[in-house]
Amino acid sequence: MIKTVEFAENGNVLLIDQRKLPTKEIVNEYSDYKEVAKAIVEMVVRGAPAIGVTAAGGIALGVRAIETADIDVFKREYELILELLGATRPTAVNLFWAIERMRKLVNGNRFASVDDIKQAVYAEARKILAEDIVINEKMGFNGAELIKDGDTILTHCNAGALATAGHYGTALGVIKAAHISGKNIKVFADETRPRLQGANLTAWEMVKEGIDVTLITDSMAGYFMKMGKIDRIVVGSDRIAGNGDVANKIGTYSVAVLAKRHNIPFYVAAPMSTIDFDMPNGDGIPIEERNKDEVLYVMGGKRVTPEGVNIMNPAFDITPNDLVEAIITEKGVARKPFTESLGKLRNS
Ligand code: MRU
Repeated sequence: MIKTVEFAENGNVLLIDQRKLPTKEIVNEYSDYKEVAKAIVEMVVRGAPAIGVTAAGGIALGVRAIETADIDVFKREYELILELLGATRPTAVNLFWAIERMRKLVNGNRFASVDDIKQAVYAEARKILAEDIVINEKMGFNGAELIKDGDTILTHCNAGALATAGHYGTALGVIKAAHISGKNIKVFADETRPRLQGANLTAWEMVKEGIDVTLITDSMAGYFMKMGKIDRIVVGSDRIAGNGDVANKIGTYSVAVLAKRHNIPFYVAAPMSTIDFDMPNGDGIPIEERNKDEVLYVMGGKRVTPEGVNIMNPAFDITPNDLVEAIITEKGVARKPFTESLGKLRNS
């Protein structure tokens, strides 16, 4: 089982360093919440649910270092920790979901002492991690019902164990569950420029799971769809608006448009914590602009661009809901109209 995020007995946060995969499997240990925040910014850990779980662990680390017995002073320092972790990556709503859950825990309960709060915060972080794994397994098997024996499934970026606390993942959870259910399936993975999450992470996970995987560059997706090689598309998401508009890794929108052109069902697998019901549609979802070096250089190594060129590097795009066939969650599968179906799942 792939473990992406773990919390040690002493509260330290353990993260498999995703920048080093697939060639090196190195686990970094963090004892300071500021270092955890830096690890999120620098993509040691990435993927919406994994970022949320890691932030929860970072918060538990942060409270460990607060030295006061005064609950009001504690709460002020606590807010600073939440703010710092909340400033790491803007698009993945699971980050803000986890932070809000931790904020409510502390504000909503009348604790007898600061020590009680610290223990409760640590326990809540562990709970968020454990829940994430269970949720993804459920989601995977809900989605596996949409997959037919013999299907070839295209996926973009990495929405696997490495994008969650571990084990299943979201989009790859659907694929793994279909595989475990005995369906003979094949996977096409987009390499996902500029950070190559498809090449480095998705391909690694699929090989590890013994699932037949073919890696293609992003620009090959349309060609293979036209050739009739792709039966279904499953991707993850960083934030889904209440109407079903989907924010996901840059390039997802292009894949969805191509899918529509070729009548290929386009599915999104995401936990309920990825659905931002405060966001009526995708227009308001903040899109992270990342460092231009990600485009100027390949994997931080060889420069592939001339001096003087302008660079833009949005990390995500929005796929409008009409291009989405179904949204797979741990609570069930939502179909159009999504405002209604997602709302129903929320209240179920
Ligand atoms: O920039 P990243 O690697 O954090 O982007 C990750 C994605 O876009 C994933 O597809 C998304 O978080 C869904 S993961 C379950």
